[in-house]
Amino acid sequence: MLFDILKSRRSIRKFQSREIEQEKINTILKSALLSPSSRSIRPWEFIAVTDKETIGRLAQSKQAGSQFLTGAPLAVAVIADHTLSDVWVEDASIAATIIQLAAQDLGLGSCWIQIRERAHTEEKTAGDYIKELLGIPEKYSVECLIAIGYPDEEKKPYEEDMLQNQKLHINKF
Ligand SMILES: Cc1cc2nc3c(=O)[nH]c(=O)nc-3n(C[C@H](O)[C@H](O)[C@H](O)COP(=O)(O)O)c2cc1C
Repeated sequence: MLFDILKSRRSIRKFQSREIEQEKINTILKSALLSPSSRSIRPWEFIAVTDKETIGRLAQSKQAGSQFLTGAPLAVAVIADHTLSDVWVEDASIAATIIQLAAQDLGLGSCWIQIRERAHTEEKTAGDYIKELLGIPEKYSVECLIAIGYPDEEKKPYEEDMLQNQKLHINKF
């Protein structure tokens, strides 16, 4: 049930060295392609990286918050052609979330690594660093990286009594 997947999904930043089966990678990527998008423009594209050296370099995208990617067997770069849609950020974010939920459903753990609006160094954005590294053409922007692998840490699922029910409003604020 999707609600159970939503409760058990936690950000996983420690991964087993075990490879992910190609069939599971394919399912994750096909799930991404099923993502809804504004006017069905589908401005996103996805780069699945399994090459360890490249993953190691992707882990250096930011000064903090990306280093744990080194231990992941799979990174998916979620990018979008920003010339196609003014809401590419929303489209890319939905696809990234679907990737995380598909991974969870397959018994894998994942974590979002924010790239858009983040710096690599004072002179270079994290997005430009990744575009150079992966050979991504100019008209694309990088939303995020999703680190995926078999979990090597246990995190408690969310419980219903932890939910911020005060944030729910019926009919008016
Ligand atoms: C838009 C977004 C950006 C995030 N960026 C990062 C990041 O750069 N590095 C990281 O380790 N986690 C990142 N996270 C993961 C959050 O820290 C995590 O989802 C949050 O702490 C809640 O924990 P949970 O995912 O286990 O529920 C990001 C999550 C989202 C949704």
